[in-house]
Amino acid sequence: MCLWFHSLSIWTALVTISFAQNSTDGVRNANHVFNAIHAVMRHPILSEYPNGVSFFLATVPKGIQFYHGTGEEHPVTGLEWLAFEPEHSLGFAHRSGRRLEPSERETSQKPLQKEDPLASTHGYLHTYVSAKDLRLLYLDGMSAGPMRSLEAQDRILFNDSIPQNERPGGGRPGQRSEVEQRGKKLGGPPSEQARALQACQMAEEKWAGRIDGLLRTEGDFEIILCNFERDLDFVRISETKPQKSSGNDSHGPGGKKPGRMPGRAVTSRYDDVRGHQAIIDFDHVVSAYTYNLDLFPNNTKLPQLSHITPEELIPIQLAIDSMILNNEPSRSAFNWQAVTDVVIDRYSVQLRSVAEGDFQSLVALREKLETSLEPFIDYRDYQNSYAIIDSCQRQLIPQSAPDSGLASEAVRYILHRICTTFTYTLLDSQMDLETAVEGFAELVSYLSWIE
Ligand SMILES: *[C@@H]1O[C@H](CO)[C@@H](O)[C@H](O)[C@H]1NC(C)=O
Ligand SMILES: *[C@@H]1O[C@H](CO)[C@@H](O)[C@H](O)[C@H]1NC(C)=O
Ligand SMILES: *[C@@H]1O[C@H](CO)[C@@H](O)[C@H](O)[C@H]1NC(C)=O
Ligand SMILES: *[C@@H]1O[C@H](CO)[C@@H](O)[C@H](O)[C@H]1NC(C)=O
Repeated sequence: MCLWFHSLSIWTALVTISFAQNSTDGVRNANHVFNAIHAVMRHPILSEYPNGVSFFLATVPKGIQFYHGTGEEHPVTGLEWLAFEPEHSLGFAHRSGRRLEPSERETSQKPLQKEDPLASTHGYLHTYVSAKDLRLLYLDGMSAGPMRSLEAQDRILFNDSIPQNERPGGGRPGQRSEVEQRGKKLGGPPSEQARALQACQMAEEKWAGRIDGLLRTEGDFEIILCNFERDLDFVRISETKPQKSSGNDSHGPGGKKPGRMPGRAVTSRYDDVRGHQAIIDFDHVVSAYTYNLDLFPNNTKLPQLSHITPEELIPIQLAIDSMILNNEPSRSAFNWQAVTDVVIDRYSVQLRSVAEGDFQSLVALREKLETSLEPFIDYRDYQNSYAIIDSCQRQLIPQSAPDSGLASEAVRYILHRICTTFTYTLLDSQMDLETAVEGFAELVSYLSWIE
């Protein structure tokens, strides 16, 4: 191995020149797009990186069971919220018999329909099943709130038309704010009413009925579904366990937040219980990351949109319209998230290990890198950096993968950069240990993987 190494030095000049030619920048913010794809429908990652700025087409297949918690005893018609987890809905059913604390109103999604909060101490858990494949627009990040994680939908999707004046303490505790929706009451905080009503109006008018609702994330995943009676089959309504109605139960300020699910492990990165319940169409993504916007002003850790002008958002709004009007959400789109998984699995530990300076000498580091790259090297042509990088990249991207589209470009670019860093460090014999470690540290910082 070492012998082979020494023979390499004569190729250094060649290799260095070749690399310089291929220093394309790839997709703008490719690292963030890659991480957004990796985080789709994975609650633990989304709660750590709550500010989504990307919009995906998604399908919920026919026959998936959903829940709705309410004080209402009869099946829902028209627009309402749906939860994937019964525990998520139970919280709302339990609280439907009493007034919400101001702090709960901030994050509460579900309408409250009991006129007199003390008249009843129980609520109802509704169960429904999707009656067809639901066509949804998935908003990534913690897109059902709270706070800043709603910025992308409020600014881009809803064009700055959502009231922003609800803050804990600033509201009117206990006061219902209901709006008429096709002859029925829709409850919940005013901003959430406005989002739901506007989304469904856009679905019908602007998007010509091609979208059935929005898929968002809060404590768990939820759907704003525009037409319950058309899109769901009713399964059952059960009365929930009576709750103490003193207003002093476990849901008080500082207590358990609504929407948290007891008993479900949320620590796993592979939080894929949703895989068959919501299918994301990675062929169709619109992301604010790829427009010419500075989403990290003053080097903020999370993307922000508040300083962006309305005019700058128009191209993104048009791209979302066009995505919806020109495509059916695909159930068989290539799964780019799976590729991000194998890329992170294969490289995260190695990258970090080099970046943290685990190697005493360049020789030791290169031996390690060569072991990792050996499958991609043809030793008759070992100076061929293009071939090594190409083969390294192809190993993790199946031939069947589409070669265009945002997800494809971002994932390919990230993998290309990793393979390039490995290959370059292995082949460039003029590089010293410090430079090699710096290169890896820079890459690790750029990738910002959530591990
Ligand atoms: C690098 O650039 C050369 C010349 O433009 C091109 O032929 C080659 O395919 C590129 N290689 C990679 C890995 O992008
Ligand atoms: C967005 O809001 C602006 C300002 O109110 C308005 O001029 C524009 O027409 C709106 N765009 C859409 C697509 O509704
Ligand atoms: C709620 O509980 C707290 C502490 O247990 C108590 O101090 C307070 O008086 C109670 N409030 C009501 C309305 O019962
Ligand atoms: C950046 O920081 C400066 C100084 O604190 C502040 O005035 C400015 O508003 C910040 N920019 C944005 C876009 O937040």
